[in-house]
Amino acid sequence: MSQYTELKIQDLTKNLNSILPKQESMSLQLFQEIRKYIYDSTGIYFQDNKKYLLESRLQRRISFLGLKSYEEYFKLLKSNKNTEEKKYFYEAITINETFFFRNQPQLDALASKVLPEIIQKKLEQKKNKIRIWSAACSSGEEAYSIAMVIDDLVKPKYPDIEVEIIGTDISVAVIETAKSGVYKEYSVRNIPPYYLKKYFVINGNTFEVKPEIKKLVSFSILNLYDDIMMKTMFNFDVIFCANVLIYFDNASKIKVVSNLYNSLNRGGYLFIGYSETLQGISKAFSLVSFPKTIGYKKE
Ligand SMILES: C[S@@+](CC[C@H](N)C(=O)[O-])C[C@H]1O[C@@H](n2cnc3c(N)ncnc32)[C@H](O)[C@@H]1O
Repeated sequence: MSQYTELKIQDLTKNLNSILPKQESMSLQLFQEIRKYIYDSTGIYFQDNKKYLLESRLQRRISFLGLKSYEEYFKLLKSNKNTEEKKYFYEAITINETFFFRNQPQLDALASKVLPEIIQKKLEQKKNKIRIWSAACSSGEEAYSIAMVIDDLVKPKYPDIEVEIIGTDISVAVIETAKSGVYKEYSVRNIPPYYLKKYFVINGNTFEVKPEIKKLVSFSILNLYDDIMMKTMFNFDVIFCANVLIYFDNASKIKVVSNLYNSLNRGGYLFIGYSETLQGISKAFSLVSFPKTIGYKKE
């Protein structure tokens, strides 16, 4: 996510909060407790300078629930009485910025190099199924972009290959949007017109992904920081895990990336975000260069 986008999100949050009843500011001790709670359950680390952001994001939930303080909210969150709240809490603390064709060089590499290489190997092994995972997919734009490129560029060359794309995220609300496949103009702003025309039903200012693309993709809730859940994710040929590692500290990056490595088949690839690197995080992968992007290969 660009600094500009983050600033815009912070501005929006500020504007919204200015019309909600104001809470006392969060004590440093409580900030540290909530930060630890977030870190232990998600791997996301709120730096000291993100205290205001956390306050403003939780303020909406506090007002909505009619609570009086951050303390009261945190007590409710931790109590087993309201497990539902955890769902809204994750929504409040995550940043879900995404859009179609966010990383075109990765999509090009996938269609022109990575999948032909993987398919060739599968065919030699008399296998015909490719599994791709969009991990931390937010509202699904990345997973559908992958499906569109495959349908357009890979399927015609390898008609017998079966493709399964799975999108997962920790936030329930974004997964609901992903499942619906219905988007606003903002999400499609970067999509090449050819793909927009070919794969969307356009109705006024809503853009619905066509059924032939929807049927290639399924979505579910998954916390990348949950080792038990991560063990259920295996046998993937390609994993996209973009623009989420930036919210983790080094220890959680190491843990998540090591689990992603285990989820990949030999010869499989991991793609991360433009501004992310595995330097100092994992030496297990080989670095493979493609035009304007790189991939991490499990040899
Ligand atoms: C900025 S979005 C990136 C979306 C997409 N991958 C992209 O690059 O456009 C980051 C997403 O990571 C999700 N996320 C954050 N922590 C997570 C965790 N521990 N497990 C799964 N998803 C997480 C957030 O809910 C959010 O939707």
